[in-house]
Amino acid sequence: MTQTVHAITDMNPSLFSLKEEVLTGLRQNQKQLHPKLFYDENGSRLFNQITTLPEYYLTRAEKEILTTFHADICAFIGHNTPLIELGCGSEEKIQLILESLKEGNRYIPIDISQEALQCTVEKLLDAYPLLDVNAIRADYTQALSFLCQGTEEKKVVLFLGSTIGNFDENDRNEFLQQLAQNLNPDDGLIIGIDLKKSPTLLEAAYNDSAGITAAFNKNLLDRINRELNANFQVENFAHHAFFNNEKSRIEMHLVSKTAQEVSIDEEIFSFDRGETIHTENSYKFDLEDFQQTLNKAGLGFQKAWSDQHNHFALTYIEPLKG
Ligand code: AVJ
Repeated sequence: MTQTVHAITDMNPSLFSLKEEVLTGLRQNQKQLHPKLFYDENGSRLFNQITTLPEYYLTRAEKEILTTFHADICAFIGHNTPLIELGCGSEEKIQLILESLKEGNRYIPIDISQEALQCTVEKLLDAYPLLDVNAIRADYTQALSFLCQGTEEKKVVLFLGSTIGNFDENDRNEFLQQLAQNLNPDDGLIIGIDLKKSPTLLEAAYNDSAGITAAFNKNLLDRINRELNANFQVENFAHHAFFNNEKSRIEMHLVSKTAQEVSIDEEIFSFDRGETIHTENSYKFDLEDFQQTLNKAGLGFQKAWSDQHNHFALTYIEPLKG
């Protein structure tokens, strides 16, 4: 109980190459850039700002669920159950869970960013000096298979914030299958998903009046200018976010305001007026479809909690039995 672990286990995750990601994405017919590229230092700061915007209900709704259904959620988790969090963006959410579990649990955040891990671990140990924290610097696949080697002890994996909404259908299915392979029958998985709702509310959340989401989107071009030898004229691109009803997702794009050329190293990319770079998909789920998706991977949720407006859901998932 009194032992605290400050070390971060480094599994040397394979890091992506910004240059390769960017060049490959911009060579496509529909130009695209992967949303993971948003999160440089500036992008992470902007994202934190987004989570406090009046229009961006997701984070507030998820925290409301964690607060309101705290006892029930903790009952599903159980005492002394190690909590493994995939991606550690927000120590506030995990604190809402730990609040009653306190020092009894082991907390294992997994992230590819050393800084993110460091920051989370320090804040948590400040709040709970006796907490047993085991941070792991790894990509999810690496870390999960490592964690599941030869242990029968019950564990619960957390994947919060509707990060799963960034995966397209194939990646989502593959990811859930991978998780299923690494769960014992009594293990749990808590996934946060953003629910389908009126397009007006959805679109407002990605077109905030303070323009922070627009800045977040455009920061991607600034980042490419900063880190690669590129000359995007950021003011020549506009933020565009809309709900694609058929695909049930918010799409974010950067729209070229004029016909223009941009060079990255030796390579020149031309844009027609109105042509876009597709920068993010954020899928919105309904619970029945999500249950079906889980079932295909051999998983199913036992319980789903949602906020008072039914905007967001937390699901407690287990491997299907029998
Ligand atoms: C972190 C992927 C859940 O999709 O709502 C917020 C990212 N993009 N505003 C989301 C985001 C624009 C966010 N996720």
